[in-house]
Amino acid sequence: MRIAVLPGDGIGPEVIRAAEAALRELVPEMELVHGDVGLECHSRRGEYLPEETIDLIKGTDAALFGAISTPLRTEGYRSPILTMRKELDLYANLRPVKNLAPGVGLVDLDVIIVRENTEGMYTGDESVDADGVTLGRRVSRRACERICRFAREHGESSGRSRLTCVHKANVLRRSDGLFRDVFYDTATGSHMSCGDMLVDAAAAEMVVRPEALDVIVTLNLYGDILSDEAAALAGGLGVAPSANIGDRHALFEPVHGSAPDIAGRNVANPSAALLSAAMMLEHLDMEDEADALRSALRGTVAAGGRTRDLGGNLGTEEFASLVVEGLRRRRAL
Ligand code: NAD
Ligand code: IPM
Ligand code: MN
Repeated sequence: MRIAVLPGDGIGPEVIRAAEAALRELVPEMELVHGDVGLECHSRRGEYLPEETIDLIKGTDAALFGAISTPLRTEGYRSPILTMRKELDLYANLRPVKNLAPGVGLVDLDVIIVRENTEGMYTGDESVDADGVTLGRRVSRRACERICRFAREHGESSGRSRLTCVHKANVLRRSDGLFRDVFYDTATGSHMSCGDMLVDAAAAEMVVRPEALDVIVTLNLYGDILSDEAAALAGGLGVAPSANIGDRHALFEPVHGSAPDIAGRNVANPSAALLSAAMMLEHLDMEDEADALRSALRGTVAAGGRTRDLGGNLGTEEFASLVVEGLRRRRAL
């Protein structure tokens, strides 16, 4: 088993170090091969995403990514994470958000956001004229079909009960209307109850009635925004993991960015990175190891182990050490 590890910038390397320690404890034979990406990579070697890194991901069983910083006002820049999603056809962005322990976070929620990951508002197709910019927003039937099918299959196999299509078809009648129509076509016969909701209403619902939301399937930008909202409600950006899944490749990453405001100070919460590693283990059919990692993490938090963002005073490394100790204790049982 070979894994591409791409730490990136800012807190990326700090939280990925924690995930690597957990992986080494759980699966010692796993080979972790480092690759370069991001802003610091650019200052070292003149490119944000070397071809060699793409080849590394293609040649390994899965990739674990930290976060990268976006350069300000660089003409023609396209985020490497978007390039990787597109080039590796990682069409499903799976973002489960759940409180790490009772009482952690602003509200209790347990929601899985399934985000279309290849088109929508993210085409990068902006054309400039004398007075402004026009965006080519793409919603294709094929992309709608595969993301809706993915959400249905994932919801059903995870034993979920409700699937909600989130869109803005009252305004974007043809594009989001197509997404909603395809959703109902692919939902036929599901044992989950299936419905749809406008994205603005869904954003409010998540705050006032989070228990009404179970699995959400949505278009690219809505999924981006709703996943930060869900993370913030469940305790902050440090707790939300994600998986970018395609038919041939998969890349796992925390939902958060490089957090330059706290980088280099050993205060970032590595939970999102640890949970992303657990999603990767599950994807690689190591269910027991994934469960062990989730339990050790949740156990650490339930026992009062908290980083600063959750009101505690543990550093990134100290918190990660407690999780790894929890893994060792479980193994000794
Ligand atoms: P961010 O997610 O980096 O940070 C937002 C806020 O959440 C900050 O206050 C930060 O301190 C806090 N935070 C984030 N992760 C945390 C963690 N693990 N523990 C504790 N607190 C945490 O978003 P931003 O500030 O808007 O963006 C910073 C940079 O990251 C930008 O250059 C942006 O483009 C980039 N970005 C990258 C990715 C990615 O690589 N996948 C995702 C989002 C943003
Ligand atoms: C995310 C990030 C990315 C996105 C950025 C960094 C391009 O915000 O993964 O949520 O918008 O998808
Ligand atoms: Mn985002």
